Amino acid sequence: MDLVVEGKIFHKGMFENACIGISEGKIVEIKKILKGEEHLDFKNKLILPAGVDAHVHFRDPGMMHKEDWKTGSLAAAFGGISCVFDMPNTIPQTTTVQDIKDKIASAKSKSYVDFGLYAGITNENLNDVEKLGKISNGFKIYLGNTTLSLLFDKKKIREAVDLAGIAGKPVLFHCEDEECLIQHKSRETNLFDHMRFRPGICEEISIKNVLQSCSGPSTKVHICHVSSCEGLELLKNRPGNVSFGITPHHSLLNVEKNMGSSGLFKVNPPIRTGFDKESLFNSIKNGTVDILESDHAPHTLEEKDKDFDEAPAGVPGVETMYPLFLFLAKKELISYQRLISVMCNKPGDLLNIPKGRIMQGYDADFIVVDLKDETKIKSENLHSKCGWTPFEDWPAIFPQTVFIHGEKIIQDYEIQVKKGIGEFIGA
Ligand code: NCD
Ligand code: ZN
Ligand code: ZN
Repeated sequence: MDLVVEGKIFHKGMFENACIGISEGKIVEIKKILKGEEHLDFKNKLILPAGVDAHVHFRDPGMMHKEDWKTGSLAAAFGGISCVFDMPNTIPQTTTVQDIKDKIASAKSKSYVDFGLYAGITNENLNDVEKLGKISNGFKIYLGNTTLSLLFDKKKIREAVDLAGIAGKPVLFHCEDEECLIQHKSRETNLFDHMRFRPGICEEISIKNVLQSCSGPSTKVHICHVSSCEGLELLKNRPGNVSFGITPHHSLLNVEKNMGSSGLFKVNPPIRTGFDKESLFNSIKNGTVDILESDHAPHTLEEKDKDFDEAPAGVPGVETMYPLFLFLAKKELISYQRLISVMCNKPGDLLNIPKGRIMQGYDADFIVVDLKDETKIKSENLHSKCGWTPFEDWPAIFPQTVFIHGEKIIQDYEIQVKKGIGEFIGA
């Protein structure tokens, strides 16, 4: 055995003081006592699976003034995330086999964490879905207009879902119904307008459309960033092949608190009322929701500072997601079981990767957490190129050490490796 890591391990749904045996980057054994060439004893510190973020926008290629694979993946690493899945709304949009190959090559040379990629399904490339499925980890479909999106005709949802099923890959949806958005559209001057002019009913209609079109059991369908109680209510009785995600910003922020006319908190779908926020947070707590996803969507302060109506929608979040919720787990506002399920287990299952569990056969990706290390989130300490966070001054617990494939990529809050260590997580 190359390495043994000892500590208070989260394993099979609970904590126990035990050893993880690692060979060639994989977990090979978990036992009370193990011997290996190297032995690291973290005593009573928590050892948790590293997080898997199924939803990031790393802006590379095309908008590298906002983020690139180096800065985005460094932010992920410091946030305890060992694998990210990047969305196709880059420039060019990731919609052809060549676009995906190019993105893989570029990301491989820059990334600190493992990664997967989605191919965008558009009205034009439906015939290529099978080919695209062989090389990407899944598909993304936008049903409403958002930042640089690839709007898709809702009449073709069933066809797209069936084709993705044949390709054997999940389809993720941005659910806001475009017709409904157009009906409500008006000039916006603050966050409250943004919520009213992109109301929960648009999300509800769109989710309904998807649910009606995915009755075939073979395709995994995932509804991204559910933001309203209307949407949540609909998904409570979803079929087994459908999952959904919630973001930290929708479950922790509300419009009443952050109502200013600054475009900083402008995001699609919008941050809504305290009631929506509470319902979403409770669904994380009680097990209704499947995954937490950051929807890390960085824009620069300069871009956000434009007139509200012109400001781009999206907030960063890949670095702060796990640390925010670790603090909430410490305060017993959410259980560790639920936290690990939404942050690690379920996103790993959705993307069908051997990550997100401390279990034999899985990648040796985990984080070491000292619960005494409460800090306040400060923009200047974060690693995204965008340089700000919607969670400024929020309490959080960042991982002290991060392992990927059994290698310490962060130790005592310092990066230990060079860019380009991250691997494409196969398709
Ligand atoms: C995202 C972006 O900026 O790429 N913006 C957002 O408001 N969430 C796109 C998206 O996920 O809708
Ligand atoms: Zn979206
Ligand atoms: Zn997104």
